[in-house]
Amino acid sequence: MASKQVTNDNPVYTTSNGAPVAHPYPVEKIGLHGPLLLQDFHHIDTIAHFDRERIPERVVHAKGAGAHGYFEVTHDITDLTSAALFKKVGNRARTTVRLSTVSGESGSADTARDPRGFAIKIRTEEGNIDWVFNNTPVFFIRDPGKFTHFIHILKRDPQTHLRDPDMFWDYLSQNPESIHQTVILFTDRGTPDGYHNVHGYSGHPLKFVRDDGEWVYVQVHLRADGGFKTLDNETAGRLLGENPDYGIQALFEAIEKKQYPSWTVYVQTMTPQQAENFRYNILDLTKVWPHKEYPLRPIGKLVLDENPQNYFAEIEQSAFSPSHTVPGIEPSTDPVLQARLFSYPDTHRHRLGVNYQQLPVNSPVVPVANFQRDGFATFVNQGARPNYQSTISPLTYREKPYANTEHKHEVWAGYARAHLYEVTELDFEQPRNLYRKVLSDLDRKHLVDNIAGHLGLVKSAEIKARQLSVFAAVDQGLSDAIAKAIGVPTVHPLKVASAASVVPLKTNIGQTTVTLA
Ligand code: HEM
Repeated sequence: MASKQVTNDNPVYTTSNGAPVAHPYPVEKIGLHGPLLLQDFHHIDTIAHFDRERIPERVVHAKGAGAHGYFEVTHDITDLTSAALFKKVGNRARTTVRLSTVSGESGSADTARDPRGFAIKIRTEEGNIDWVFNNTPVFFIRDPGKFTHFIHILKRDPQTHLRDPDMFWDYLSQNPESIHQTVILFTDRGTPDGYHNVHGYSGHPLKFVRDDGEWVYVQVHLRADGGFKTLDNETAGRLLGENPDYGIQALFEAIEKKQYPSWTVYVQTMTPQQAENFRYNILDLTKVWPHKEYPLRPIGKLVLDENPQNYFAEIEQSAFSPSHTVPGIEPSTDPVLQARLFSYPDTHRHRLGVNYQQLPVNSPVVPVANFQRDGFATFVNQGARPNYQSTISPLTYREKPYANTEHKHEVWAGYARAHLYEVTELDFEQPRNLYRKVLSDLDRKHLVDNIAGHLGLVKSAEIKARQLSVFAAVDQGLSDAIAKAIGVPTVHPLKVASAASVVPLKTNIGQTTVTLA
């Protein structure tokens, strides 16, 4: 996947149009001390190109590291999906991965407390599959309308241009469904040891579909073969200053030393019938599927064995989208995922231009044939082929084999309505289980210290108390320990609706509807 603009061994210095130039420094002037000449294309072009070097950074996940490698199918899953990649055990596809923090700018520190993005581009014989995952199995929101609000509270205050703990906890305490991800974020998993020592999770259910139309919901898990390594808060904090690029360096050096990062890839599966009887709404991104009931089934492995030759061309310009998928792998109706299907290509057109899929790192390994033409930065314009649906030189059309199969589980009917999922007792079960049963005593101590270190910075007593009531709904002891650590009174748990108000998925609604005025 090396950059296609390769240099030869003994390159001659040239202008951008390829004409040789004697030396890069001298500029043309009148005499020795006169004004510069507009005719000096070499100089003008150099400055003009430099003036345009920066492209918009990603609005989220701006800081990251990436590498190339391969995805290999290790187990037969033809009973789950007919995707070409999975037709044969042993199939390998060249893959590019970008790992990232979420909220900081492109120059921010790698060890910040933040989820990590885990974006994977698998180049298959039927097109690219992008798996745009995080290193946590759940997320802060399950209503897409909250996304921009949530991201804004991670960014800078409009007036002070500072990041603001009051904004952060003001939002979280008003939107308690975020609690599961908040607890995970404030364990040491919120400060991973390097970009690549993390697991990856689809978070959303995807659909694996067979040619006969049968399908299952799947959650994809990538488990780091070297384990999920974390830093404690103090070490992560020290590294923020000492080596802000700690994670980029660790990934690059591991690959140079041939200590190739690798992951074993699994799926959890759930039939539509199981989904209808599941305790939670499976379209709710704040919930995990218990491993005991829905065990991990191995499907493949991911290995990163090649550093980019050119970071900008091969990683910065990479453009991942959950909507880049192939026959046999479909999105579910998880509303946050549905919003993402639109958002990513939209932002790519803004960040990289309308022809972003033609950039070498993004272009599929199979030929693209369609009626899109022209636009800025067109590299491949499909030659002389007609740019309309023509009988002179027709394209071959191949429908997805399951295109016309109907599935009762997904027959949608209803009035258009603005809808939010309601917070209920169910939302506290999984974080409570995590806090009480999964974390060790040391993990729990770090959790309290890590939260106290941040919540303690909040100026508003009201926000602190409101967030403590959310923690109390998880576990009163957790809330009281944080209150003690930040020196404020203890509070009662937040009151929420009972689990009985949750409407099962069968109704095609998900959970209770809150009608907006
Ligand atoms: C990056 C939107 C939720 C994972 C981005 C970008 C946007 C975005 C605009 C920048 C992409 C670019 O410039 O190339 C959204 C929206 C969301 C959402 C609208 C919800 C409504 C999520 C969730 C996950 C996720 C739930 C993980 C499960 C990522 C990753 C990247 C990213 C990994 C970085 C991709 C890269 O390395 O290029 N997101 N996001 N996002 N998002 Fe999301």
